[in-house]
Amino acid sequence: MKEDLLAQIKNESGEFSPFAFLRPELDRVEERIRAQANSFDPAVEPYVAYICNTSGKRIRPALTFLSGGATGEVSDDHHKLAVILELIHVATLVHDDIIDGAEIRRQAPTANAKWGNALSVLLGDCLFSHALMLSTEFDDSEIGRKVAIAANEVCSGEIIQTQRRFDLKLSKEDYFDIIRKKTAALFAAAMELGARLNSRPVEECEMLRDFGMAIGTAYQVYDDCIDLVGDEEEFGKTLRTDINKGKLTLPILNLFESSSERQREKLNRLLIQKEPIDISALASIADYVGAIESAVDTGQELVESARESLICLSDTNYKEALTGIADLVDVLLETCRQ
Ligand code: IPE
Ligand code: IPE
Ligand code: MG
Ligand code: MG
Repeated sequence: MKEDLLAQIKNESGEFSPFAFLRPELDRVEERIRAQANSFDPAVEPYVAYICNTSGKRIRPALTFLSGGATGEVSDDHHKLAVILELIHVATLVHDDIIDGAEIRRQAPTANAKWGNALSVLLGDCLFSHALMLSTEFDDSEIGRKVAIAANEVCSGEIIQTQRRFDLKLSKEDYFDIIRKKTAALFAAAMELGARLNSRPVEECEMLRDFGMAIGTAYQVYDDCIDLVGDEEEFGKTLRTDINKGKLTLPILNLFESSSERQREKLNRLLIQKEPIDISALASIADYVGAIESAVDTGQELVESARESLICLSDTNYKEALTGIADLVDVLLETCRQ
């Protein structure tokens, strides 16, 4: 069932179709990211090299190229932007893994697992500052400014999330505000700035930004479902940290919403206890399956709204691949249904 779903979005070689289409661009990004380590102090270089040699899905670079290709030429500036956004993403992951106490990321030990929290905080800072330094190299200084704003939003999202840990008053509006900042801001920047580098009109850049915002938000909803239902080995990262670290994600908020007063009291007690929470304990109290289903529905609605923003584009292979990204997130969400 899950395999059948995934087969819809993969090509013959098992790669997600929109990414296969960008293979030459993404291979260049891979090389450029690995080369970044050389520009650090020799004492810092091995840490940066370790992190830059772990390879994620490169979704943010892919969006940068798709937006660029759909609005004109994919230029060297798009490559530069792709590397910058990925480095900012990696910096946030280094910090996020410290906060979550996660030990595995991208199928490898996290920086905090290898070198401890103190060094990892500073390593994340080095990656952030390096990315912001690179972002001053564009002729259009507005690109660097918007990259810095996006980086700031990601950090603000993580701060608000941390502030609101175990806060049972967190509303869905608060949750969406957090994930738009911590995750969708970078997706939105990739889309908006990919078009801006081709000097496209502001309205078009804004519409593509909306696509990134909606897809990025849907993607985080998916990730939040995976944290509950996913398999650590398959995803190559530590899971089940959200509820244990007090992050109240959409499935959990749904669970509260659909519960009776008495179920809610039991859930409250379970969530604020200090012992690790077993998912089956949640399921024994309230409608856990329904809560996941409803989060998937919400994610898929966001994907639909993202598709609408693509009407500003003329028909090209790049536009088709952007539709493919929407299909991809839609199917990934679908795989979370129990
Ligand atoms: C992980 O992002 C953090 C979230 C925003 C959900 P990705 O799923 O893009 O992670 P990598 O880059 O592929 O490792
Ligand atoms: C995304 O949140 C982290 C950032 C956007 C920095 P998560 O904490 O859910 O990401 P994962 O699950 O650890 O990849
Ligand atoms: Mg995390
Ligand atoms: Mg997660």
